[in-house]
Amino acid sequence: MTVHVEFYTEEDLPRSIGETLTAWGQVCFPDDHDITWTYTPHWHVLTRAERQPVSYLGIFERTGMVGGKPVRLGGIGSVMTPPEHRGMGYSSTALEAAAAFMRDRLGSTFGLLVTGPKLIGFYGRLGWQRVPGPIRFWQPDGADRSERIDVIMILPLAGEPWPDGLIDLCGLPW
Ligand SMILES: CC(C)(COP(=O)(O)OP(=O)(O)OC[C@H]1O[C@@H](n2cnc3c(N)ncnc32)[C@H](O)[C@@H]1OP(=O)(O)O)[C@@H](O)C(=O)NCCC(=O)NCCS
Repeated sequence: MTVHVEFYTEEDLPRSIGETLTAWGQVCFPDDHDITWTYTPHWHVLTRAERQPVSYLGIFERTGMVGGKPVRLGGIGSVMTPPEHRGMGYSSTALEAAAAFMRDRLGSTFGLLVTGPKLIGFYGRLGWQRVPGPIRFWQPDGADRSERIDVIMILPLAGEPWPDGLIDLCGLPW
């Protein structure tokens, strides 16, 4: 089985892939609650097996503030594998490739993602660590929806310890 991980900017993403991702999103995130997310990532990360798209995630480059200091974050969002391709390691492969890309190409100090309790073990096996928050992010109507974020996880990419304190994403969440 030949598995490739490809990185596309928004401009470079083939239109047919965009349509595939929209369909996957409806299946993988059926009850996207009322948080307004950053929908367009800086990098679309597509995994193919035998040339067929099988898994996806987005990378969001953001300088956030953690404990009052600026931190270069590589945000990971929209991690999804459609049901027929799950359990084959495709998301794990994509997450490992994304971590190397954020570290070596983007110069991110930490990866950051938000998730639910069920996936702490999945991300944990790939080196992600749960951090306590609190977290803050922008919403178009000005509401504070930080309580809806269950789990915040970070991935150290530059050998630095995660700073204590409030995590301000300085924009919409991902
Ligand atoms: C989570 C998801 C991306 C995993 O994709 P995948 O390509 O199957 O991932 P991998 O094959 O690399 O790893 C699978 C592992 O994910 C974990 N996992 C996936 N879904 C899980 C769930 N609902 N509960 C617990 N563990 C889960 C398991 O540990 C599984 O390990 P196993 O193969 O030993 O059973 C996929 O299930 C998905 O798209 N889910 C819906 C969207 C979603 O929740 N995305 C994450 C947002 S933070």
